[in-house]
Formats: sequence, C-alpha cells, structure tokens
Amino acid sequence: MTFEEITTPAYVIDERKLKDNLRILKEVQDKSGAKILLAQKAYSVYQTYPLIADYLAGATASGIYEAKLAHEEFKFSGYGHNKCGFPKPENHVFEPAFKDDEIEEVCSICDHIVFNSLNQLEHHRPVWEKYASDGRLSVGLRINPEYSADDAYEKYDPCAPGSRLGIRNEKMPAELPKGVEGLHFHNLCEQGFEPLEDTFLKVEKDFHRFFPKPLIDEDYDSYIFEMIGGSESDSFEGTAGDDPGEHVTDEFMDGGASADSSPIQTKDNDDIPRIKWINLGGGHHITREDYDVEGLIRLVNYIKARYGIEVYLEPGEAVALNAGYLVTTVMDVVETDRIPVLVLDASASCHMPDVIEMPYRPPLRDSEQPGEMNHTYRLSSRTCLAGDVMGDYSFEEEKHIGDRLIFEDMAIYSLVKNNTFNGMPLPDIDILHEDGTVEVLKRFDYSDFKSRL
Ligand SMILES: Cc1ncc(COP(=O)(O)O)c(C=O)c1O
Repeated sequence: MTFEEITTPAYVIDERKLKDNLRILKEVQDKSGAKILLAQKAYSVYQTYPLIADYLAGATASGIYEAKLAHEEFKFSGYGHNKCGFPKPENHVFEPAFKDDEIEEVCSICDHIVFNSLNQLEHHRPVWEKYASDGRLSVGLRINPEYSADDAYEKYDPCAPGSRLGIRNEKMPAELPKGVEGLHFHNLCEQGFEPLEDTFLKVEKDFHRFFPKPLIDEDYDSYIFEMIGGSESDSFEGTAGDDPGEHVTDEFMDGGASADSSPIQTKDNDDIPRIKWINLGGGHHITREDYDVEGLIRLVNYIKARYGIEVYLEPGEAVALNAGYLVTTVMDVVETDRIPVLVLDASASCHMPDVIEMPYRPPLRDSEQPGEMNHTYRLSSRTCLAGDVMGDYSFEEEKHIGDRLIFEDMAIYSLVKNNTFNGMPLPDIDILHEDGTVEVLKRFDYSDFKSRL
C-alpha cells in the first residue's frame, strides 16, 4: 500500500526517520562508551524493537508490563552481537513502588532494577538479593539531584518541590546500602545538553561519597582534555581532585550551592562499596538538530575515564523523535459563530492525549499559525467532548470533506497513552518502510474497546 492509500485514522511509524535517530544514538555510544536504553514509556511499538535492538544497548521499563514486553520482543534481528557490539540486549526497570506479587517475576527477567526509596529496597531485599547474589541482577537507587532546568515545567519536573521521585541527598545514608551497585537520576524533559551537564556536576558534588576514587588523581585536567579533545574553557575544568568542593563550577557557586554545603561526612576508606554504574535518565533530546552531541560524548567520556563506571542513558523521545505521524481525514466542516471547525476522524483526547494534558499544539504538515495563510480552521474531533481540540491552523487551500491532514511527531507519547473514550476506535498502527511502501502492523476493532471494560 502507498502512503495515500492508508486507512485513517492511523499512526504511521517512519522507518527511515527511526533509523536516522538510531544512527545518532549509535554514534554517541560508539564515541563515548555510553549504553543507551529505549525508555518504553515513550514508545513501545514492539514490532520495531528488533530494529532498535540492533542499535541500542537495551530497553528500560516503568513496571512489569513494559519489562515483559522488552523481555519478549527486544531482541536483535540477527545472530551474535548487535551493530554496537553488544552481546545481548539489557532489560532495566524502575518503578516508584513494586508490588509484592510482581517483584519475583520482575527480578527474574530484568538485568537492572532501580528502587525509588530505601523502604522499597529493604522491603524487597529477600527477593532481589537471590538474583543479585549470583550476578544475574544489578540493583540501583534513584536519587533526586534537587536540580531543575531553568525552563522546567512543574508537572514534568521530578525535582519540583514535594516530588516523590528519587532519594534526596540528606536522606541517603553515609555509605551505599549492601548490594546496591548503581545510582539513577532522571530530572529532564525535552532538554538540550547543558541541563544534563549541570545536573551531573551537582550529582557528582553532592553524592560524591558513592563514586569510586578517581582513576586519575594527578594532572587530571590535561589528561582528560587530551583524551576527549576538550578545550580550556570546557566546563569540566575545576572538577579535578577527590574533594567534593573542587567539583563546583562557578555556576554552582553563583547558585548558592557552596562547596562545603554537603552535610554528609564520610570516612575516606577504600573498602567501602562504590557505584559501578550511573544512569543519567531520560529527557535528553539527543536527536534534535540543535542538540550538543559532542558535549554529551565528552561528558560520558569524562565520567568513564575518571571513575571507571558504566554510564547509561535512557531517552524515550529521542529514539522516535519526528519518526511518526497521525494521519486523519476531514469528516465535516462546521460553520460556527467564530472560525469554521474541521471535524476529524482522529481525536486529541483519545489519540494524542498529551495535546490536552501537557498541553501543546501538535505540528501539522503544510499548515501555519492561524491567520498566516488564506484559510483558518479549528481542528477538532468526532467525540462529544467540547474541548477535544488540537488547535487553530491556517492553510493555503480551503479544506473539504475527505481531505487528509497529517499530524507530525506522533510516534512518541501517543500510542502508549491512547484510549477509547466515547467508544472511539483506536487508530491503525502502520509502518512506512524505506522503499515508500506502507504495511499495517496492527488494526483494532470493537473487541479492543469492550475487553477493557
Ligand atoms: C525514569 C525515566 N526515564 C526515562 C524517561 C524518558 O524520558 P524522555 O522520553 O523524555 O526521554 C522518563 C520519562 O518520564 C522517566 O521518567
């Protein structure tokens, strides 16, 4: 089938764009040694997992269902190692609280599990210790870096005041609890590189006691700059030495986080357990055109060279950014006392709920802001919800019943969040192959609505 022949409404995954993103992420892995995981909460079209598994180190889950999906479907398409040389995809999981009747299965199918609190860690210890003791499972704790990006939106900011996500520094013990091998943080949403760098430098300073002793103590800066090609103005300058105070950049000084503000005192003892890995979470828009990929590569190289630990990143959006569409058809054109409304066979509320929840105005092909082109319309849906509106858009040509409209960037946080409110049918899931042909991956019907009730 061709793109024009698609039955609407349909989500269409663009294989070429997905691969473009994966190549960028592969380059980050190749040049930095980072391990990048797909955050399935953003994108779980599992029919494309074999393709993604060819490029990435693994997948991460928000709970048992996503963990099972990755366990079953996130596999290389061929034999041996994947394109980045990884021998087997890794399966990671983080959930604010794991249920007692799920934890055994979660531990049995995951390679990493991250707990959100010391309560959760200890509550489930009898289960995870069985898997961790023979090396089948690595256990981490999610920390709260208490650092928000300047433009962080509170609803999507895990470091907002009152957040339940991650353990704050003052609540962390002086030493890593027995069996814990890693730290995880996630505090960004659709961010460039700088907020990640700032977050890491704060984590490195505040949670310094859990990091291994630096592999390179002396003449550290010149070593690292030579190795990674950084410059004297690089912001890692001033992070050398094993004293947390020396990790503070001018920026943090300005921000009031003084060098000796950490209330935790630790003994300088080589025997105490230190982290083997750190997971820098998601929210990194690595595949966006203006992302500072070189900066990210430098940061990961820095962490690995200095501490000798594994570095994980778990972006969701960046994997499938701009790699999907929601194709819809105009079903009616309704004149109102204001601008005319196009009634579409797709719904904001059901098929792209983030439009209403975030909220945001989804990008639409061949359109502009209202009033910029000849014909302005409000785009809405065939549900009865008055506010089921995508936004106001203008077009060069007048729109008619039967015309197609294509919402862009619809692979992420759309399919994973859709619903059948109003008894709305779920859109098909299609894939646009590199040769221009379209294949239907999944078609839904009435039973998908009824079976959930
Ligand atoms: C713990 C965790 N990791 C990764 C992600 C993926 O973030 P994004 O899709 O913005 O890259 C999220 C998103 O909420 C998250 O909560």
